[in-house]
Amino acid sequence: MEKIGVFTSGGDAPGMNACVRAVVRYAIHSGVEVVGIKRGYKGMISGDFIPMTTHDVSNIIQHGGTILKSARSKEFRTVEGRRAAALNLKKEGIEGLVAIGGDGTFTGAKIFYEEHGIPTIGVPGTIDNDLFGTDFTIGYDTAINTAMDAIDKIKDTANAHERVFIVEVMGRDAGFIALRAGIATGAEGVLVPEYQTNMEDLIQSMNQNFERRKASNIIIVAEGDDAGGAFAISKRLTQAIPEIESRVVILGHTQRGGRPTCMDRVLASKLGYEAVKNLLQGEKDAMVGQVHKNIVLTKFEKAIKHHQSMDASLYELTKVLV
Ligand code: F6P
Repeated sequence: MEKIGVFTSGGDAPGMNACVRAVVRYAIHSGVEVVGIKRGYKGMISGDFIPMTTHDVSNIIQHGGTILKSARSKEFRTVEGRRAAALNLKKEGIEGLVAIGGDGTFTGAKIFYEEHGIPTIGVPGTIDNDLFGTDFTIGYDTAINTAMDAIDKIKDTANAHERVFIVEVMGRDAGFIALRAGIATGAEGVLVPEYQTNMEDLIQSMNQNFERRKASNIIIVAEGDDAGGAFAISKRLTQAIPEIESRVVILGHTQRGGRPTCMDRVLASKLGYEAVKNLLQGEKDAMVGQVHKNIVLTKFEKAIKHHQSMDASLYELTKVLV
């Protein structure tokens, strides 16, 4: 391979820049040219390509976001869109791809490989941590630390006013952010899509806390939980216990930004390097991840279909340590 392309796609995640840097630097180190594809699959379709030099990735390791920009492309879901993308890559002489993203990115990469045979290695970059084939995804550690810092602050005002706070964190299909942020902040309730939410139990425990005059009550809910979101929970709580004063905080996209943590920068550097190494060794159609400190390749098919399962013993902590 003489020329490869790299792109970031789907929801951005802190550490993506560190990963782009590793891909560019290791490819150049191996004598391979690198092209940056702007805005993920969108840029592939419009031919938005930029040659990357070692200098282009200087001073980006510490920044959130992605210098290559990111997008979700509807056009790439069509046969015509993918054909246009493949044509552009061929014209540019791009022989292999490194795709940094999550579930949607790898679903696209899998179909694209089946249709056009351009070897692609994926790197897990999503704050959701919901991919099978890696213990952690790039961006997750930063996101849970951002959520934890915000919730610590909310606890101060919750204590001062003896209020209940319902804090909604990201994760439309997965509750990993809610789980770790919940344990780390000692939240009174953690609601995740992986386990059915029992509103009656929640109301009962809030009632007990109210009677005990527990100073702060924090309920963390993942956006994909079946209880209907933070506002719906708040409404049902105040209907059931009118004496309770509750407030809602949606942490939203704050969790996607900010300086990546040391853990995310190191993981991103390692996986970016491994992605190029594996691509140049002839691997394709797979995601590179880290499981128990070992680098493993997982076929896209498996990485997207078998969601990482939630650690039941961690979830148990959210119930017994309150
Ligand atoms: O997949 C990452 C993620 O941040 C999810 O946690 C969230 O549900 C979604 O992206 C939000 O997407 P958007 O930025 O397009 O609103």
